[in-house]
Amino acid sequence: MSEPVLEVKGLHQYFEKGTANENHALKGIDLTLDPGEFVAIIGGNGAGKSTLLNSVAGSLPVDYGQIKIDGHDVTYQSVAKRAKLISRVFQDPKQGTATLLTVEENLSLALKRGARRNFWSNGVKRNERDLFRAKLASLDLGLEGRLSAEIGLLSGGQRQAVTLLMATIKQPSLLLLDEHTAALDPKTSATVMEITDKIVHEQNLTTLMITHNMADALKYGNRLIMLDHGQIAVDIKGDQKKNLTVSDLLELFKQQSGAALTDDAILLS
Ligand SMILES: Nc1ncnc2c1ncn2[C@@H]1O[C@H](COP(=O)(O)OP(=O)(O)O)[C@@H](O)[C@H]1O
Ligand SMILES: [Mg+2]
Repeated sequence: MSEPVLEVKGLHQYFEKGTANENHALKGIDLTLDPGEFVAIIGGNGAGKSTLLNSVAGSLPVDYGQIKIDGHDVTYQSVAKRAKLISRVFQDPKQGTATLLTVEENLSLALKRGARRNFWSNGVKRNERDLFRAKLASLDLGLEGRLSAEIGLLSGGQRQAVTLLMATIKQPSLLLLDEHTAALDPKTSATVMEITDKIVHEQNLTTLMITHNMADALKYGNRLIMLDHGQIAVDIKGDQKKNLTVSDLLELFKQQSGAALTDDAILLS
């Protein structure tokens, strides 16, 4: 049996604790991810999705509970320290790339992440360039001919695709996708989701993906988690996930929480 990639135990998060505005944002989350699991997380506005990802990434200090990655307790570890294990892609395509650098310079930075020596001194090496060209060609966006284009000149979708390459070029233990297609138009979003799925499967990446898009959550990944008011309301995987429909999901939610799902934001997406 292989060790879980991620173990979240009894995670509680509060905002403005001890004040009149206290918000108990996560109420005892237990979540274990085995190697290669691709989990889609859905839930209405304010359900706690971002809080969960921020806790795992370390950008939000943990109030109660424990987080382990690859068996290491990272609960109180800095973002920088655990960044060796985690890659994260955000909603804004500008956030993952350096606008004024070229496509290959961005990829080169991602490849050198964590290395201390010769950070910039040698520029982009030939064997690196071959790797980048092959990776870009696999995106099927015609970017293999644009290695020396400034990344700021790319479209949002192209840029997010390059961000995905950067996030995965060093094989992270855990890939965190935080509504990474939400800022794109529907067609581009679909393209970036296909690219995401391909990379995740080719590299067998353990992945937590927040999405506001119910159809994507049903289509992609081997596991689906619905958060509701800071708790896991639905957690399904395997064959049950494969054949799941929106109405199944609503029924499951009703069984678990004893209430009908009324959040239009999830139902309509
Ligand atoms: N920085 C913050 N300060 C105060 N409250 C916050 C902060 N971030 C999130 N919250 C609250 O915590 C709850 C969960 O938020 P969040 O994790 O962002 O939800 P989601 O990503 O599912 O929309 C919400 O009630 C939200 O208002
Ligand atoms: Mg959010």
